[in-house]
Amino acid sequence: MGRKLVGRTLALFLFAFILATLSGAYAWVSLEKHPYNEKRKGDPKRGMMIYGQLCVSCHGDKSMGDGVAAPAIDPKPANHTDQGRMGRLSDEHLYGATVGGGLEVNRSANMPAWGLYLDEGEVYDLVAFLRSLAPFRGK
Ligand code: HEC
Repeated sequence: MGRKLVGRTLALFLFAFILATLSGAYAWVSLEKHPYNEKRKGDPKRGMMIYGQLCVSCHGDKSMGDGVAAPAIDPKPANHTDQGRMGRLSDEHLYGATVGGGLEVNRSANMPAWGLYLDEGEVYDLVAFLRSLAPFRGK
């Protein structure tokens, strides 16, 4: 194989790889392919561990919306212990916000789309943890 051909094959391979990654990631962020299943219950303890790794930088280690990154962000990260706010958000809404980010639920894009990084089970775990902070009280 000539050098040129090797280069081209590599480039093509890379392109295919990036395309596959992007479309795969997109497929997961799309809630149509991963709709909320109300029968599925997550584990709040596992959710807390994930939250500690991915969410506290913005939402704070007490989940009050006052993480280290919060001062740099406007609108501010949600206070997940705020019953008035969280009590009106259904589990399905929390799932959609976590998977698709703020834009998915008509909120700020400052809230990232975690569906790119998490598997479905982890999202249910996170919802279960959020629910342990503030139960749903109806819309
Ligand atoms: C880069 C900062 C940042 C990180 C990290 C972050 N969030 Fe958020 N989050 C936000 C902001 C900002 C909002 C408020 C958006 C608004 O009010 O428009 C928000 C709001 C939310 C909401 C409420 C949505 C609503 O409709 O009120 C949920 C639920 C949420 N985040 C879950 C999470 C979870 C779970 C994680 C970790 C996996 C996480 N967030 C990590 C910035 C962040």
